[in-house]
Amino acid sequence: MADPRETRVLLEHAEDPALRTIDGYRGYGGYATLEKAYREMEQDEVLKELEDSGLRGRGGAGFSMGKKASFLPRGEMAKYLCCNADESEPGAFKDRELMQRNPHQLIEGIAIAALAADAGHAFIFIRGEYAEQADILDAAVAEAYEAGYLGKDILGCRRDLELVVHRGAGAYICGEETALLDALEGKRGNPRLKPPFPAVQGLYGGPTLINNVETLSNVPKIVANGAEWFKGFGTEQSPGTKVVSISGGVRRPGNYEVELGIPTRELIFGLAGGPEPGHEIKAFYPGGSSSPVLTPAELDLPYSFEAMGEAGSMLGSGSIIVADDRVSIPHMALRTARFYHHESCGKCAPCREGTNWTVKMLERVVRGEATPMDLDIISSVQQNIIGHCLCVLGDSMAMPVSAMVNKFRDEFERVIAEAGMPIAIVQGAPEALGAAT
Ligand SMILES: Cc1cc2nc3c(=O)[nH]c(=O)nc-3n(C[C@H](O)[C@H](O)[C@H](O)COP(=O)(O)O)c2cc1C
Repeated sequence: MADPRETRVLLEHAEDPALRTIDGYRGYGGYATLEKAYREMEQDEVLKELEDSGLRGRGGAGFSMGKKASFLPRGEMAKYLCCNADESEPGAFKDRELMQRNPHQLIEGIAIAALAADAGHAFIFIRGEYAEQADILDAAVAEAYEAGYLGKDILGCRRDLELVVHRGAGAYICGEETALLDALEGKRGNPRLKPPFPAVQGLYGGPTLINNVETLSNVPKIVANGAEWFKGFGTEQSPGTKVVSISGGVRRPGNYEVELGIPTRELIFGLAGGPEPGHEIKAFYPGGSSSPVLTPAELDLPYSFEAMGEAGSMLGSGSIIVADDRVSIPHMALRTARFYHHESCGKCAPCREGTNWTVKMLERVVRGEATPMDLDIISSVQQNIIGHCLCVLGDSMAMPVSAMVNKFRDEFERVIAEAGMPIAIVQGAPEALGAAT
């Protein structure tokens, strides 16, 4: 059941299992917007609605979806649309729920976005571990083909769209948009040098629009109700609702759909129930494990792209991981660095060497072999990683590690001094919270 404090737009009717079927989805008005768009709208009208809505990408960078679609060149060449369903960042599990509960909303969004991008081929790149969701999507795509919403001559409108669900092989780096393209082409998933950006030269060298599952799931509602309706939710710079994944040291972890701009405290304490009785929040990642951690002093900030940015962090994929007072921040930093080191593709030196070196230094910290001066060196190395990598995987480690060392320096110094202190493990989430491995 939805919490009354939520604003459910994407997750509306999500509790109804029939929503997964095409009949159930159509029962709630599904595919009416696709019919309207294909029968009555020109490419530029769809594009304008998306641009005017101010919809920002929900996969991490928060770039304007409509603007990105408008970057694709016009002309007869083959163009592509890729839906990024890789969702491998620790803390993020909202795309899984959107695909599992409402696969047709995503398919309808892809078909309408393909109209805006003039793409004839679309792919859903889904992380390999999401086998159940991939099966659900396969079944839904087959139903959409059967109903004439995909394939050749859609609804007799002389437009074609082929949609393929492609299962990844389980590498976090394949969520990076250009690595995703290489993986789709059958190569090892390594990031490409940018520019050229995918909108100009992407899949098989053709112009390609890449968007996240949640971004594309917003498209039918925006085109159905108009940009002004969408802007009625959220803030001026962060319009719309957001499905926020909340995990870690809270009583009710889960996905909650809220208007952007809601106080962060309302998300963590109101919806997710706050920390376990007798415990307090020590820190939280506001936008997945790649976002610089914030402290309880920042709990009253609005949960929006702009407020998180102004606080020196980011909204990212919209995934909050809470660390309570039982979590050792130096161990959480080490756990974070180990993840990114393991997932680094090794193509560029700052990331390959920087993540490796940071893990080794943080291991020295928790073993009590480091000196306080090493903390300065760790911080300065993170600054040399940020902005110097082929993609932002290296930054994704350096930003949170740097924030942890700077904001919790006393604790790092204490851990060095008292090496061997017992490490508390929060029940149920030791891995996510940085327990010693
Ligand atoms: C290492 C890495 C992993 C990423 N993983 C994902 C992912 O799993 N899903 C996603 O949508 N975006 C991911 N991104 C961001 C994508 O590169 C890209 O910005 C996004 O898919 C664009 O969609 P949007 O504009 O709708 O947010 C990742 C980026 C990096 C650097």
